Amino acid sequence: MSKNISLSTSFYDPLLSGPLKPLRKAITTALPEDKSTRVLDLCCGTGDQLLKLELAGYMDLHGLDLDPGMIAYAKHKSASISYHEGDAANTGLTEASFDVITISLALHDKDQSLRENILKEIARLLKPNGFALAADFCFDDKTKFMGRFLITAVEAFAGGDHYRNFKNYTQRGCMKNISPEGLFEIVEVARVLKNGIGVWKLSAGL
Ligand SMILES: C[S@@+](CC[C@H](N)C(=O)[O-])C[C@H]1O[C@@H](n2cnc3c(N)ncnc32)[C@H](O)[C@@H]1O
Repeated sequence: MSKNISLSTSFYDPLLSGPLKPLRKAITTALPEDKSTRVLDLCCGTGDQLLKLELAGYMDLHGLDLDPGMIAYAKHKSASISYHEGDAANTGLTEASFDVITISLALHDKDQSLRENILKEIARLLKPNGFALAADFCFDDKTKFMGRFLITAVEAFAGGDHYRNFKNYTQRGCMKNISPEGLFEIVEVARVLKNGIGVWKLSAGL
């Protein structure tokens, strides 16, 4: 395997693939049944979500991540998924070219201006009737104490800007309040992991 792959990348799947199974399933279930649906997973990391979609029969799958090590690791797991190295806020991919864009656990740790730029890029990349599925932390009265506690502990351990941005994300009220006004209509479609992670469907705004 490539020398670009860091220790943390090698440990990502062994540590998280099991606990994140309900999330992967919730996203797979929320996709259109048509297996030719063209899907882009932004900030795809190790490609765990895309691999689950491939196993579910989806055939037109694309992933993008900033980290060449993540891309190398993801490529090693599937030869038929197409992977791109790049910035989710400025992908260089063709506009209006995807039916569905997924993004998981990758907005809470960004500053608000980068979150908005990524969401604008998602809107640019979606076909007119396409939609995005955005999964990330969600703290509200449905969230179980243990979910809130474990997620906060992991984020505090990450520290620095990551933790500051996570606190900003939760203080804003999570996914529903981070998108630029009117860009998307946002509807929650699933909740997993002690109700600490939500999945939202983002459709073109009115
Ligand atoms: C917490 S991981 C989540 C990975 C994956 N989405 C998942 O659900 O397991 C966040 C990923 O976002 C990537 N990333 C961070 N900033 C990015 C950016 N601006 N553009 C593309 N990828 C980015 C990181 O390299 C990392 O692989």
